[in-house]
Amino acid sequence: MTLLTVWGDDSPAEPVLRTEDPTEIAAVLKEHGVRYEQWPLQHLSDESTNEEVLAAYQDRIDAVKKTEGYILVDVVQMRPSSDPGWPELVRNSREKFLNEHTHDDDEDRFFASGSGIFYLHVGGKVHAVFCEAGDLLSVPGGTTHWFDMGTNPEYKSVRFFHDEDGWVGNFTGSTISSNFPTYDEIAATR
Ligand SMILES: [Fe+2]
Repeated sequence: MTLLTVWGDDSPAEPVLRTEDPTEIAAVLKEHGVRYEQWPLQHLSDESTNEEVLAAYQDRIDAVKKTEGYILVDVVQMRPSSDPGWPELVRNSREKFLNEHTHDDDEDRFFASGSGIFYLHVGGKVHAVFCEAGDLLSVPGGTTHWFDMGTNPEYKSVRFFHDEDGWVGNFTGSTISSNFPTYDEIAATR
């Protein structure tokens, strides 16, 4: 179940809101231009390929592309592995998104399985959206945010892009993300 936790951006110790109510989550996020939807889950296995993920949600993906004008979609999969390269892959993947940044483009993500947390730093507050399977989150371009997939990440997510450049982050240089509970810490409270 999706979880939204909100803190003042200088008060990481005491949340001002913690809710799992999808309607309330959507309403709070909408105030900041962030779209949040839940899609009916389609059957996928751990082994499903990127193509199978896209095929399972083709109709809804096509609808988002049409409505929002996206030209590209791709799939990112992270799945715990006994491969000796897994820890380093996790470190590199996780650190890339862990510092506060913005994008010129919107950042739309659909979680077909697994989970991850988007932290949106807007309106003097930090909004941690613990996204789970079935969640679509759209972060408008220019919104300061970071993303934590945790230290043992597992998810299949669909990404949408308006141009060929793919993921381009503009880092703010702020260290605010290190002040707030991590994915692992929030996951442990559930
Ligand atoms: Fe981002």
